[in-house]
Amino acid sequence: MLEVNNLNSGYGKLQILYDLSIEAPGKGITVIVGPNGAGKTTLLSTVMGVAKYMSGDILFEDMPIQGKLTHELAKKGISYVPQMGNVFAELSVMDNLSMAGYLMPKEESKIKADQMTEIFPVLKKFIHRDAGTLSGGERRMLAIAMGLMKNPKLMLLDELSTDLAPIIAEKVMMEIARLRDELGITILMVEQMAKRALEIGDTAYLMVSGEIRYSGKASDLLHEPELCSMYLGIKTDSDQIADLTKPSIEGSD
Ligand SMILES: Nc1ncnc2c1ncn2[C@@H]1O[C@H](COP(=O)(O)OP(=O)(O)O)[C@@H](O)[C@H]1O
Ligand SMILES: [Mg+2]
Repeated sequence: MLEVNNLNSGYGKLQILYDLSIEAPGKGITVIVGPNGAGKTTLLSTVMGVAKYMSGDILFEDMPIQGKLTHELAKKGISYVPQMGNVFAELSVMDNLSMAGYLMPKEESKIKADQMTEIFPVLKKFIHRDAGTLSGGERRMLAIAMGLMKNPKLMLLDELSTDLAPIIAEKVMMEIARLRDELGITILMVEQMAKRALEIGDTAYLMVSGEIRYSGKASDLLHEPELCSMYLGIKTDSDQIADLTKPSIEGSD
């Protein structure tokens, strides 16, 4: 559904992504993991026409989209939930949803907002509360709902689990899997919670210093002990076995 070929991009004259190619197949979850500063956010913001596109192809449903404005992309069915999930803190949950649906006829926006509160019951409970008073996890749900208001085919999600308590982050992950499984939405997500993201994901890319180091099945990346421990801070089974077989250093206990 989304295809990026030999993309070079960055900010001003500074190049961050080098000849980068990725594909996000329809109705699947594609996960991008990698250390801080690798260029993951830059990739999403280049697709959204925010970071500076230099060369290469960005295709959505086989049509080139580079150079398109954010609202044009929204019309085509691409929706972007930025890192930390931007919501308007001083507006109520309802007004945030209405803001997200501002391009639609009023009646349609209202129906859509009602659907969102069915999908995310917690939003119904707090519909008149200011978004600023929501907990971190609730705010992420609202950000996802705002992205969903526009009937996207493809959602780009940037580190939605960051700074959440593990149990809440897990909830957010389950909601993302539900977008794929129940609504058939294609997801391209960047995640810090690499292990969980690779477990729910279908396809994965490991990005390091603006380049792809691994591409393949998401669950297979978890069986690459070297990549996992070097770049993702994930201890794999073989690491643990290696630890057990190491001679213990005298006096270290
Ligand atoms: N607006 C910007 N202007 C200039 N450089 C930026 C900007 N945003 C990010 N960078 C740089 O681009 C590189 C990649 O950043 P980013 O895409 O945010 O990485 P990641 O999301 O993988 O942590 C970093 O070196 C960062 O300093
Ligand atoms: Mg980032």
